[in-house]
Amino acid sequence: MIDIHSHILPGIDDGARSLDEALDMLRIAIDQGVTTQVLTPHIHMGRFNNTKQHIEQEFTKFKEQVNAANLPIKLLLGAELRIGPEIMQLINTDSVPWLGEVDSQRTFLLEFPRTEVPFGSDNLVRWLLSKNCLPIIVHPERNSTFLHNRDKLQTFIDLGCPLQITASSLTGKFGADVQQMTEELLEADEVSAIASDCHNLKGRSPDLFAGVEQAKTIIGNEKANLLVTNSPAKLTCNNAFH
Ligand SMILES: [Fe+2]
Repeated sequence: MIDIHSHILPGIDDGARSLDEALDMLRIAIDQGVTTQVLTPHIHMGRFNNTKQHIEQEFTKFKEQVNAANLPIKLLLGAELRIGPEIMQLINTDSVPWLGEVDSQRTFLLEFPRTEVPFGSDNLVRWLLSKNCLPIIVHPERNSTFLHNRDKLQTFIDLGCPLQITASSLTGKFGADVQQMTEELLEADEVSAIASDCHNLKGRSPDLFAGVEQAKTIIGNEKANLLVTNSPAKLTCNNAFH
């Protein structure tokens, strides 16, 4: 399996706090069948002011430590960007660690705040698309505006944004209404990837396997497997660290 969303890179955001914790998270992922783990630290101005240069330095260091620990897993680098006008500057200054490049569009993870969809978000996405950037909207089911007003999410689906849902949303960790929304998105064939978005060893630990098992009960084995294999692999095509 390929997991395109995680906060395993240690000491850089609200994810793993130490190297040991990060290595243990990778061990859990490997046990679950993850063969490619994408590390996607937050870039959230004012909260996690991570630059591309710093993220890449930390990634290179971590990769060496993972090799030294002999862990059989491939690592790729990306980032999770919080939506906001700062994104325009990041794009204009080539400061985004791209997840991949698909059909000449560069992909990255785009996160909305917990409750709102900021005014003008659709126009920002249109601008991104005009710059050949394709944002993957992460866990839309965990945004209460999208949860209660599906038309708002449809706007972004219609613009062509792939959706990534979170494994633990599928298994009910964030409540029955969030779980139901993931089921409906799966049934409507609107999901491009299931990912763990893991942050630690307790509470938000790597749990992709359980999410996929749950997805299988909704859309069947074959379709569920594609959401952790071919489909996310396409979104990470041409990753700089392949
Ligand atoms: Fe995340």
